[in-house]
Amino acid sequence: LRLVVLISGGGSNLRALLQASEDAEFPARVVAVGADRQADGLAHAEEFGIPSFVVPFTSYPSREAWGDALLAQLREWEPDVVVLSGLMKLLPAQVVEAYAPAIINTHPAYLPEFPGAHGVRDALAAGVAETGASVIIVDNGVDSGPILHQRRVPIEPGDTEATLHERIKLLERELLIQTVLDLANNDIDLKDFA
Ligand code: GRF
Repeated sequence: LRLVVLISGGGSNLRALLQASEDAEFPARVVAVGADRQADGLAHAEEFGIPSFVVPFTSYPSREAWGDALLAQLREWEPDVVVLSGLMKLLPAQVVEAYAPAIINTHPAYLPEFPGAHGVRDALAAGVAETGASVIIVDNGVDSGPILHQRRVPIEPGDTEATLHERIKLLERELLIQTVLDLANNDIDLKDFA
């Protein structure tokens, strides 16, 4: 299964996928890593010898133009699945249209609880005892697509956004790798979501 992974930040979830795909038995390969900015996580692609590309959001006059440039890059790599893993931008409609439902996203909350860019902070602020991690199919909404895998994560007393996010990420990586396996083995059939 050919994966292109899109990031904006540190790429710890990307790294987990790169490590998993080092195993010859793993039925998926990250063929390229893309980012909307000079993300630190691009260093993981470099380390693993995976091509990367940057389509800087700030270089384009509109979200639409950025989307066209991103789509052109994606097409070069012919991904079977596009993985959003810490991409902090909503995909423009033409990109979703081109690849849906073969676009998945990891989110650090138990969707539909706490969607959006601050899911960890929002869960902490809500004072709930637990939150979670989710892997969904990307649609044109904000973290609103069909849920493929999700698990609960406890919020511990004294948790900060950082400590809670780290605990969630450990689980996100597991769910992401499981989702990729399910897609590669057709245990999840994307045609069911078309
Ligand atoms: C992850 O929690 C992801 O779900 C969220 O942003 C975080 C990215 O972390 N969208 P990293 O860049 O993979 O370390």
